[in-house]
Amino acid sequence: MSKNIKKIGVLTSGGDSPGMNAAIRSVVRTCAYHNIECIGIYRGYQGMIEGDFKEMGPRSVNNIVNKGGTILKSARSLEFKTPEGRKKAHENLVNAGIDALVVIGGDGTFTGAELFNNEFGYPVMGIPGTIDNDIYGTSHTLGYDTALNTVVECIDKIRDTASSHNRLFFVEVMGRDAGHIALNAGIGAGAEEILIPEEDLGLERLLESLQKSKASGKSSSIVVVSEGDKIGKNVFELKEYVEEHMPEYDVRVSVLGHMQRGGSPSCFDRVLASRLGVKAVESILEGKSNYMVGLIQDKVALTPLEQAIKGSSKIDEELLRVSDIMTT
Ligand code: F6P
Repeated sequence: MSKNIKKIGVLTSGGDSPGMNAAIRSVVRTCAYHNIECIGIYRGYQGMIEGDFKEMGPRSVNNIVNKGGTILKSARSLEFKTPEGRKKAHENLVNAGIDALVVIGGDGTFTGAELFNNEFGYPVMGIPGTIDNDIYGTSHTLGYDTALNTVVECIDKIRDTASSHNRLFFVEVMGRDAGHIALNAGIGAGAEEILIPEEDLGLERLLESLQKSKASGKSSSIVVVSEGDKIGKNVFELKEYVEEHMPEYDVRVSVLGHMQRGGSPSCFDRVLASRLGVKAVESILEGKSNYMVGLIQDKVALTPLEQAIKGSSKIDEELLRVSDIMTT
């Protein structure tokens, strides 16, 4: 264990995700386990620039393992994108005696951490926290599993109305430019069609698919649309398009929005957060820096931050096939 690291800072940045609190708890308690001081940094990089720090001990993270959001708050700091902002942040860390940082967030958070490391040689370690699951070097990001369960629960409820009224629903889900939430929740909820940015279905094939579905005896349909889908129409325009070409359908739209990002984390996310927090702190104590801790083939593993940022988290081809077969 490194003798040079006596105090570790932890922050959450970017969009909050369920499991971030469980990760903060894990970082704080792993520090305490190794007799290292831990400092919570509020509002991500913005709090680093403003010196918004608070000492955290194992009891300051009681009863948060089950809470959504982040007790440290989050922000997307524009000032941290400037050299002056980063210099101020670095001075605050040095003045507070903080020797290394654990950052919990998505690729924007990691880009900031990598830059900070390159500029000041400052030790950083990333924990992937985003519902989008769009980070290379981990099969799961914190919050993704919880978001999937939330989406499936919502679609199950929407289906009750869809089937009672013989309706077609377009359900828009989050995921930014990635279709992981749409594809997995779509399969889990038995959607008739799933539109994701990684695969261009095209408007004609969407109509064909809906016609086929109707002809096969289905009276209601759920189409899950990823917010980043590239079909060229948003969910409301898709509704108009289908109503125009298939007037027999009674179409509705449901945009699930930020309810997908909140709520109590699933058991999977809590356990993942606990594992990643331990590995992040212990890796810093072993003298490692500029990595992301993630899950690869169910083992906790390190990926250089640069790769985590630049690599892409590919859609599983097998799932695409499963989805095709399930919509038969
Ligand atoms: O990255 C998480 C996410 O929820 C995306 O799925 C979504 O595109 C985006 O954040 C929304 O960001 P905001 O809450 O800033 O509107």
